[in-house]
Amino acid sequence: MSYYEKVKEASEFIKGKIPSVPEVAIILGSGLGNFVEAMEDRIEINYSEIPHFPVSTVKGHKGNLVFGIVKGRKVLAFQGRFHLYEGYKAQEVVIGVRAAGLLGVKNLIVTNAAGGISPLLSPGDLMVIKDHINLSGENPAIGPEAERFGERFFDMTYAYDREMIEKAKDVYKKNRVDYKEGVYAFLKGPSYETPSEIKMLKIIGADAVGMSTVLEVIAARQMNMRVFGVSCITNMAAGILEKKLSHQEVIEVTKLVEEKFIKIIRDLIEI
Ligand code: 6GU
Repeated sequence: MSYYEKVKEASEFIKGKIPSVPEVAIILGSGLGNFVEAMEDRIEINYSEIPHFPVSTVKGHKGNLVFGIVKGRKVLAFQGRFHLYEGYKAQEVVIGVRAAGLLGVKNLIVTNAAGGISPLLSPGDLMVIKDHINLSGENPAIGPEAERFGERFFDMTYAYDREMIEKAKDVYKKNRVDYKEGVYAFLKGPSYETPSEIKMLKIIGADAVGMSTVLEVIAARQMNMRVFGVSCITNMAAGILEKKLSHQEVIEVTKLVEEKFIKIIRDLIEI
């Protein structure tokens, strides 16, 4: 069976479980999984039930697809995502996005935890992603079947929707949350970066760094979905402060920020 056929089967399976086409899909990064608790009329599908879906292996990442209503809008939430560092291929990482695209979902919100590089960022900030730098060497649109999802060569100039970014500024203001935006650099991981690597990322224009999101955004843009992204800055990247990095800290900060994060995302879905 071809990759396209697998995605189609996954998509058809999901379609059969939900009442109508969701308006927005959202990928919930580490620590944001509780977002689904505030969704109404939930329908939960474990990833293991969906044909051809991988199962996420990261602690703190669940593996559920949740359909429900948020502020009157139909939302499809991915509670847990797939990463290159788990050993998945780029095409596997984006299977959920592509299934959503084939379903007819037009809007995608991506969230993640990231390390801060810019001096304008602090742990706990919610950085709107205005652009990205793909340093993984991977791309989900490589391969003979890419054109079944969209064009072979597609534009990434406005990958992160300008209108959504403008709306986000108002949402932040209303919630009295400091508005921050920046460029997200994507590396495979799973090791965090060295201080020298972070220096390099700073020079090339990165404000934050992480191990997810970018492949999903590329896949979504090829399918012409509107994309909005936010990074929860959980820690400063290596060499910025005189201390070591720990995954535990990443988890703790996401927990502290979760409520604020959920509020912002709900308000963004509303508009
Ligand atoms: Cl500092 N680097 C990467 N690659 N991912 C992260 C991070 C840093 N902090 C949270 N996630």
